[in-house]
This record gives sequence, structure tokens and C-alpha cells, in this order.
Amino acid sequence: MDYASTTPVDPRVIKAMLPYFSEKIGNTMSPHVWGLEAREALENAREVVASFIKASPVEVIFTGSATESNNLAVKGIAFSNRARGRHIVTSKIEHLSVLDPVKWLERNGFEVTYIPVNEDGLVDPSDVEGAIRKDTILVSIMHTNNEIGTIEPIEEIGEICRRHGVYFHVDAAQSVGKLPIDVDKMNVDLLTMSSHKIYGPKGVGALYIREGVRIEPLLHGGGHEYGLRSSTVNVPGIVGFAKACEIARDSMDEELGRLRKLCKRLIEGVAEIEGAHLTGHPERRLPTIASFWLEFIDGERLMFELNERGIAASTGSACSSGKIEPSHVLLAIGLNERQARSGLRLSIGRWTKPSEIECVINVLAEIRRKYARC
Ligand SMILES: Cc1ncc(COP(=O)(O)O)c(C=O)c1O
Repeated sequence: MDYASTTPVDPRVIKAMLPYFSEKIGNTMSPHVWGLEAREALENAREVVASFIKASPVEVIFTGSATESNNLAVKGIAFSNRARGRHIVTSKIEHLSVLDPVKWLERNGFEVTYIPVNEDGLVDPSDVEGAIRKDTILVSIMHTNNEIGTIEPIEEIGEICRRHGVYFHVDAAQSVGKLPIDVDKMNVDLLTMSSHKIYGPKGVGALYIREGVRIEPLLHGGGHEYGLRSSTVNVPGIVGFAKACEIARDSMDEELGRLRKLCKRLIEGVAEIEGAHLTGHPERRLPTIASFWLEFIDGERLMFELNERGIAASTGSACSSGKIEPSHVLLAIGLNERQARSGLRLSIGRWTKPSEIECVINVLAEIRRKYARC
């Protein structure tokens, strides 16, 4: 019940990666045949990943994670455009890998406007338009929220950014492989992807950068990835990521049909438990995330109870230095601090079985009965 956190690597992905650990071990920068072989594998992977989001290969660079892609997009645009302006617009419900870099930029001479969301977690495109100023250089809004699954109106926001000549970055770490992505239709200039959310290996991400958009790199060195990400290229990981995209491309429709039904049952089953409240938009949501806040238990105790019963799930709240903080996403949709500490995110994926859905509903009902008596 925690696929949104990370996924197992698909056996077909492992098979595609294996030769690149032991036989095809070249460095993409080497001039010999092993290097050439690695370069070919890298460029083939780039083509696959690019075509998955309807981009051209020169517009995709590989990174080490979605966190790195988000940092590169936000800081890279900020530093290459600071002569033009120092204002950035983002939302209150972004992943910390966007919020923390923009906060860091605030401490380094930039200004940031944080757009609120409504009770379903939706950003209103007119709020984005209202926040854009003459010195705005970047808008960064996520495609789908990782805690509550709400799908944001990306096309409309992108159209607004285009009209105002402002770069538009989208964190699509949770939506790639679950929703069709077309960077032109979505009017985005930069888009973040992650491999380990779609049955690829951990430690690999990508950033789409529209041709002609200039960004400063975070890592300087050997000039890999068009000079935007120096580091010896993680060929096995990238080959695995491309294979994961290929599988997602070929199986998405069928897989999502199945997951949509399972998620509907999960949402209905949990919502029937007294004191369980759905969070996120009731319809405009990822077909793989069922999220709630619970009246009868806080997140910390809930995780303990679920863990005891062999269920991996996630609370909305972040744990920093052992202290459970209320989720910034749940606070942004209007919950109070206590409620925002009682989030539950159940996320399903490729190997979730109907029996597991029934099991988690029953376990939650049992936990409710136990705590109702307390
Ligand atoms: C929306 C979103 N953005 C970024 C990330 C960070 O991804 P990674 O683990 O690849 O750094 C996550 C991971 O949970 C996420 O859900």
C-alpha cells in the first residue's frame, strides 16, 4: 500500500539492466568500443524516455533522482535568468524537493509567491496569473500531488505562463506512467521524472528541458549530459529507467483500468469507516492513490498499528528528527494541525491484488474499533 513511495523493480527491467553491470561496462565518455557501446545504450534510452513524454531526445537529460531534477530546474532557471528577474511562483503543496530549493533561493536574493489551493488541493490558474509580475521568471506547479493525488490544471497554467513569457516547470514524479504526458500539449518548459516510481531502479531521474531554454548546471565537471550534469553516467540505471518507460507505455491503458477499479473499491471501503475522510479531489485524482485523514488515530500510532499487521502505508506528515510534523499539504487544504497529523496515504500498483484491498479495509475497520474504545 505504499507504491507512491517507491516501487519494486520490474523483473523485465532487471533483465535489461544486468548486462550493463558486468559485460557492457563502458564509460560513455571513453573513445574505445566499450565507451561507444555505453554511449549507444545511453542515447537509445534517451530516445525512449523522450518519446514517452512526446519530447525530442536532445530535450531530456538524466539525473540521479526527481529531487535532483527539481533542484536543477528551479535553481538552474533562477541562476540563468536572474538578470531578467528574481521572482518565482509555486504552490503551497509542492514536494519538499521544490519547496526547499525555492526557500533557499529566497535566502539568496529571490522572492517567491506561494499559491494556495482549495479544499480539494486544486490550484486555481487565475491565482497563478494574478501572482505573475514583470520580474517573474519561473512558475513551478506539480502535475499530481504525492500525498492526496489531486491532478492540477497544468495545461491552463502552462498557457498562462506562455502568454506572459514565464518559464513553466512541472514536477511529474508521481504522474509519469499513470497519466499520459505530452510536453507540448501541457505547455511546459521543464518537467521532472523519476524512475523508481514506475518500477525502474532507484537513483535515476530525468529532466525535460525545452529546446532553447537555458539553465545553469548544479554539477560542474566533465560536461556530461550536454554540460548540464557532470558525473560518469549511470548506464545500467538509465537503461532500466528506459525499459520501465517502455513497459509503462505498452501496458498503461490496461494496467490503469485495473488499478482504477481497485482504487475505487479502496476509497469506498475506507470511506465507509466512521471517522475516515477522503482527502484530495474526489474525481480529478491519480487512479493509484487513496488518501484520508482519520478522526480516531494520529499518523504515528496508525503507522505502528499497520506495521504490526504487515501493511506498509504512508502518513501525510513528514517525520523530521523523530518528531511527526503536520503535513504541509493537509494544512494547505484547510485541515487543522491535529487533523494534518492524522493523514493516511494508501497507494497501489502493478502487483496489488483485490484481496489486499479487502485486507487493508478490514484492518482499518479493526483499528477504528480498537481506538473507538480507547
Ligand atoms: C511529487 C514528487 N516529487 C519529487 C519526489 C522525489 O523523488 P526522488 O525520490 O526520485 O528524489 C517525489 C518522491 O516521493 C515526489 O512524490
